[in-house]
Amino acid sequence: GAPYPVFTRQEVGQHRSLAERVWVTYRGEVFDITNFVELHPGGKSKILLAAGGALEPFWAMYAVHSQEHVLEILRAYKVGELSPEEQSQPSQGDPYSGDPPRHPALKVNSLKPFNAEPPAELLTENYLTPNQLFFKRNHLPVPAVDPASYQLQVEGPGGRVLALSLPELKRRFPKHEVTVTLQCAGNRRSEMSRVRQVKGLEWGVAAISTARWGGVRLRDVLAHAGYEEEEEEAEEQHVCFEGLDKDLSGVAYGASIPYRTAMGREADVLLAYEMNGEELPRDHGYPLRVVVPGVVGARNVKWLGRVSVSREESPSHWQQNDYKGFSPAVDWDTVDFTTAPAIQELPVQSAITEPTPGATIPPGELTVKGYAWSGGGRGVVRVDVSLDGGRTGSGATDGQGAAAGPGLGLAPVAAHGPCPPRRRRAGHRLQGRGRQLQCAARHGGAHLEPAGGAEQRLAPCPRHRG
Ligand code: HEM
Ligand code: MTE
Repeated sequence: GAPYPVFTRQEVGQHRSLAERVWVTYRGEVFDITNFVELHPGGKSKILLAAGGALEPFWAMYAVHSQEHVLEILRAYKVGELSPEEQSQPSQGDPYSGDPPRHPALKVNSLKPFNAEPPAELLTENYLTPNQLFFKRNHLPVPAVDPASYQLQVEGPGGRVLALSLPELKRRFPKHEVTVTLQCAGNRRSEMSRVRQVKGLEWGVAAISTARWGGVRLRDVLAHAGYEEEEEEAEEQHVCFEGLDKDLSGVAYGASIPYRTAMGREADVLLAYEMNGEELPRDHGYPLRVVVPGVVGARNVKWLGRVSVSREESPSHWQQNDYKGFSPAVDWDTVDFTTAPAIQELPVQSAITEPTPGATIPPGELTVKGYAWSGGGRGVVRVDVSLDGGRTGSGATDGQGAAAGPGLGLAPVAAHGPCPPRRRRAGHRLQGRGRQLQCAARHGGAHLEPAGGAEQRLAPCPRHRG
């Protein structure tokens, strides 16, 4: 075909709005993306940040773009090339160069921003996930926070702002510890995608991890700032959090939880500075993060900078236009985020971590491991196991039975209350709000003794007999 016209950067720079048309450059080529602006999955305001200039510095920040299907979209809008003398890009600093080192065992879903999960087989090695293996879900570069100058801003009633340094927080408020399982809303999305293509990171079964968190209670801090324990209008209010991680337009990660979740009499929402007895690691929100037992990972704001109370939920993109659930009939053309509630509690979840799908199983005794969680901080009362894809279940309870076969599956049943004390005494360490299948995690799981042919017999875990 005919060669493309050649433009200077200055000419490209004159196209920075829908009225003047929107042009961008990428690797020496010029694109008129005006017609794509409204279609951009990351939003109109984001894509317009690059209007009239180069995409590279933005795409370095949002590496979701380094996929062939994104480049294909771009190619369709090519209108020209940059003059050769203008093609060399001044080298851009990598916004992720300050990210901390990570454990090599992690299975990386996305490097920039960093999103990774432990191998499933390592997840159920321990009830508490070691910090280095705990799944990591960042939307932006990890901010570098100086602990000496760090101050948490807490907006009190009437707008008065209280600033609390780290030593002040530790000195003023009693320390609490809570064992909490965090789960990302996208956990097991790769399996959903096998049923029907869904958008987002392709998580396996391990975007879920458990830690013992130490810190101060959010309700103590809010009470200190002047808020009442449970207010009359509590139903309508929200506690909003802002992270110190900001995108290129200066917008911080944010989320909110209902006021009663934070201020209820039993509320154990933490502002955590410790994780499994260690200082909070940088990837997990150093120096301070929110931990909301039983609530989707997205509301557990890391690198916490500011807390406020509002009649509205957090205005953040991640509260308003992400982390919401829809019926299967809704697609990206019909989705309306404004009418859907933001996810708070997640439903029941369970998965087998060993054997892994497709594994060849030798004859003889087989140990099966997995986890089950009830969602919303409730206790797990029963775990059903099926050898035939769910047509029949063995009705195993307390994680005492599990079996391997073509349709091997676990299904937890959530209790509507705290876990019964009887079970706790029976050696099932069920404190905390998310619970892993303790029997599996700590005693090597239940045991399956194939009895020949298609018949398989389940035997309870020997350490749980009686
Ligand atoms: C997501 C295309 C420019 C920010 C996406 C996706 C596509 C896309 C196809 C979805 C990718 C996927 O989920 O597989 C484009 C094209 C651009 C462009 C063709 C330029 C012509 C930008 C710019 C920014 C940006 C300049 C930032 C300033 C984002 C963000 C998401 C995204 C934040 C992720 C949304 C999410 O997490 O779901 N973009 N983009 N994009 N884009 Fe862009
Ligand atoms: N907080 C901030 N400030 N920035 C983030 O990107 N990601 C959220 C949440 N808190 C996020 C954040 C999401 S979606 C999840 S699932 C959890 O953090 C993950 O916590 P983790 O990385 O400690 O496992």
